[in-house]
Amino acid sequence: MDKGRIVAGFLAPHPPHLVYGENPPQNEPRSKGGWEQLRWAYERARKSVEALKPDVLLVHSPHWTTQLGHHFLGVPKLSGKSVDPIFPNLFRYQFQLDVDVELAEACCAEAEQAGLVTQMMRNPRFRVDYGTITTLHMIRPQWDIPVVGISANNSPYYLNTKEGLEEMDRLGKATQRAIEKTGRRAVLLASNTLCHHHFHEEPAVPEDMSKEHPQSYDGYLWDMRVIELLRRGHTQEVFQLLPQFIDEAFAEVKSGAFTWMFAAMGYPEMPGELHGYGTVIGTGNAVMEWNLEKHRAQAPQVVTA
Ligand SMILES: [Fe+2]
Repeated sequence: MDKGRIVAGFLAPHPPHLVYGENPPQNEPRSKGGWEQLRWAYERARKSVEALKPDVLLVHSPHWTTQLGHHFLGVPKLSGKSVDPIFPNLFRYQFQLDVDVELAEACCAEAEQAGLVTQMMRNPRFRVDYGTITTLHMIRPQWDIPVVGISANNSPYYLNTKEGLEEMDRLGKATQRAIEKTGRRAVLLASNTLCHHHFHEEPAVPEDMSKEHPQSYDGYLWDMRVIELLRRGHTQEVFQLLPQFIDEAFAEVKSGAFTWMFAAMGYPEMPGELHGYGTVIGTGNAVMEWNLEKHRAQAPQVVTA
């Protein structure tokens, strides 16, 4: 078997408003659109996924919260209705997905070997969370690529940010080893919003974009600072700033997906491609891509005699 590899990672946020704005047949509520900047950003990201032809999409979602350990979807086919508990008026989605159980089990085993508490999720009637579903729908609405779903263990919240994110770093490195051993071409999806300060009241028409803007100017400035560093490929600097960004912008990256993805990719100091930025109920969302496959192809070839 050929050695597997991560072909790309995406920052792929999950506000259910984006699915609501798309009006796919799977979602019950109907809209007149909205949040186009972000939805068009996802359209650009989809083209990259299409060109990369991955075997599997791995997603780490803050809204599959597990108190004890890191869990992995472990049922070959899952279906049902996923509802956002905060926005049930916007997201009631009939999902159907295929899980790459072999890779999920390999990730679980590697993470356990790295000293993490892990668990395979074997309940065939499990209701997949709206974060996982929204990210997957927005990046690949055809649902024709198997997935690995990873829970967000709450360690950054009930321990502290440093210890919690150290676990996510180990989880990311374990994921990378599992991908390599199973020979997969894998795309990673970090399902995180950036600044998470949000409005507390929804407009009468949720998709009324005249009401949509950053909730916090300071949070917006933080988002621009972090995005600019990522666009320049200053990954190390971003991770040095991450605890402060999390505290001051209430950034959702605290839940771990962002660290998980970068750890798996080896924290590459390569420019991320920003597909678009926009707010959803005032929170900051960026769709960004780190195309490792393209980066490898552009790297200078070593010439040997
Ligand atoms: Fe969220």
